[in-house]
Amino acid sequence: MGFPGTGTIWMNGKLVDWKDATIHVATHVVHYGSGVFEGARCYSTPKGSACFRLDAHMKRLMHSSKIYRMEYPLDLAGWQNAVLDTIRANRMAACYIRPIVYRGYGALGVNPLGCPVDAAIILWEWGTYLGQDALEHGVDVRVSSWSRLAPNTMPAMAKSSANYANSGLIKMEALADGYSEGIALDVFGSVSEGSGQNIFIVRDNVLHTPPLTASILGGITRDSVMTLARDLGYTVVEAGLPREALYIADEVFVVGTAAEITPIRSIDKITIGTGRRGPVTEALQRAFFGIINGHAPDRYGWLTYVGAGEATEESRKTVGTRG
Ligand SMILES: Cc1ncc(COP(=O)(O)O)c(C=O)c1O
Repeated sequence: MGFPGTGTIWMNGKLVDWKDATIHVATHVVHYGSGVFEGARCYSTPKGSACFRLDAHMKRLMHSSKIYRMEYPLDLAGWQNAVLDTIRANRMAACYIRPIVYRGYGALGVNPLGCPVDAAIILWEWGTYLGQDALEHGVDVRVSSWSRLAPNTMPAMAKSSANYANSGLIKMEALADGYSEGIALDVFGSVSEGSGQNIFIVRDNVLHTPPLTASILGGITRDSVMTLARDLGYTVVEAGLPREALYIADEVFVVGTAAEITPIRSIDKITIGTGRRGPVTEALQRAFFGIINGHAPDRYGWLTYVGAGEATEESRKTVGTRG
């Protein structure tokens, strides 16, 4: 996931050259993790570039900001236009989209309230997270020795920069031990999620996924997969899952904007099912990729086409709280 180092970045309503999109080292977010962000994708389709569930992503950004008392003066339409304008300005056919709202430069101390609320939208090209091979053959993962955030400590429903300290520990431990990913349990020992993905298991053709109370991020891909699975006739159960349910599942897969739908072939060196992508995972991948690649009808209205339109005045005006 290298950066191109070119193009422009939206900063408080202005498009800034990549190399100039910098902040001061005394900026609050650098020290205290006081940022909330999103990760969305724009896909290239036969009808043009289209963002996947842009509204849901921007709504979650606004909710994360609200939880952290860090609301930014853009409404949902303003956020969506800002993203679309930035994609148009960079003339990108497909990209990863990273909006971030953060406490800026003003003072250093635990109290963030004296710092401005700033925002940026960064785009870059990001292919398949765990590789094309992973989508077909699956990956090997471990159950992490790190637990997910305890309830009422760090809000797991907010996609905050601070939460990714935990994700980083899970990911580094997995890589150090030769696995692709780590699956974390919640503090009660039930299955929670991966470092940056939600998890599903399939048993006897029924899908199971941990609920929001298991310290997960309410993933937009998770929500999409539940919709697709139900429409394909599967029952989907959102309920607590004991760790051992992972090992005896017929299929396990993780989902997320970066990972899309990636099968798991082993957990803690125990083979899952037949050790390769299962039929339910494959059916869901087909349905999901059909929509995002524009080969199947967008029957849920999940795609926002970027179009060739000009940047709207609205999203270009400087909206940062410190002007
Ligand atoms: C911790 C965590 N869980 C789950 C997800 C999946 O969420 P989404 O499908 O909205 O990308 C992500 C990705 O952003 C994540 O970071």
